[in-house]
Amino acid sequence: MDFLTDPFLVDPSQIDGPVLVTGAGGCIGAWIVAILARSGVDLVAFDLRDDRTRPALVMGEEVAAALTWETGDISDGPGLNAICDRHGIRAIIHLAGLQVPFCKANPPLGARVNVEGTINVLEAARHRELKRVAYASSSAALGMPPGGPVLSTLYGAYKLANEYTAKIYWLDWGVPSVGIRPNVVYRLARDQGMTSGFSVALANTVLGQPFEIAIGGPVSWLYAGESAAAFIAAISRDGEAAPVFNLNGSCMTIEDGIDILSGLAPGHQITTTGNALPVPPDLDDGPIRAHVPDYPSIAPEDGIAKTLEAFRKLHAEGRLSAT
Ligand SMILES: NC(=O)c1ccc[n+]([C@@H]2O[C@H](COP(=O)([O-])OP(=O)(O)OC[C@H]3O[C@@H](n4cnc5c(N)ncnc54)[C@H](O)[C@@H]3O)[C@@H](O)[C@H]2O)c1
Repeated sequence: MDFLTDPFLVDPSQIDGPVLVTGAGGCIGAWIVAILARSGVDLVAFDLRDDRTRPALVMGEEVAAALTWETGDISDGPGLNAICDRHGIRAIIHLAGLQVPFCKANPPLGARVNVEGTINVLEAARHRELKRVAYASSSAALGMPPGGPVLSTLYGAYKLANEYTAKIYWLDWGVPSVGIRPNVVYRLARDQGMTSGFSVALANTVLGQPFEIAIGGPVSWLYAGESAAAFIAAISRDGEAAPVFNLNGSCMTIEDGIDILSGLAPGHQITTTGNALPVPPDLDDGPIRAHVPDYPSIAPEDGIAKTLEAFRKLHAEGRLSAT
């Protein structure tokens, strides 16, 4: 669905590829590989499994099938190094990770994937003197130390560990990186995680089904394409330190989002519990925008309309299943 990626295409001459995208089969990864591939950037997708379902939702099945795809476990350092060598990787966007509920259900696995996996990426960058590394932290890191207003989770503790690890890799070995803390992301291909409710609600709207969103009140509205564009911007020039940035998008209530939906799909059966999300809804994007080259910003009205249109197209093609 080219209309999804059109606003975010980049000049391939600005990117020193091939770019390794870890977690390419995930929600943000799907958008990043779709934007890079359509922009003509040389990339290697990496994930635990060769499951291209989410990338195919964004970029179409044929283009997704043509991606160069490596399978492996991010916690396997030698395996990751072999892939980097085989493809002559020049930049890394690191997204592979386990989300809040999975870290809670299996903390040792969460640490291996989220913490050791990120160390493996930094090691791969160190031994190849890569200057372009961006990795996904999370606004959940703001929940540390416990006791403040932001929800504290093991996931957030692991993400914060990654941020400090990256800073030490810069201080000790001069490995530059950009850590990005996405807030709540909504989009096509967002189907799991604590804050996926509005995206799932849009899919249910198209299917004519009722759905109650578990959160309400003000949240950040970070459109998938915008979050992908920020990661791509972060590797479109050489890094010089190891900064970490919040990435928020817009701030709006879930209830306002439902009102927008009412204009687009009258008769929908979407409701909200109204329960506040204990994560700040209005983090400042000023610092990341001042640091990385410009990338598009998408207003919630536009992002919701595009996401709904995409779900409708998938439904018309018989490719939208109940979530
Ligand atoms: N989606 C959001 O709202 C959000 C918000 C903040 C931070 N993040 C972070 O951004 C990154 C991407 O998020 P997402 O929403 O695309 O997540 P996702 O769960 O959709 O995708 C993560 C991907 O990582 C892969 N993966 C898991 N374990 C792996 C392993 N051991 N080896 C290799 N690959 C493995 C999974 O197969 C999956 O495809 C994650 O690190 C996440 O913590 C996401």
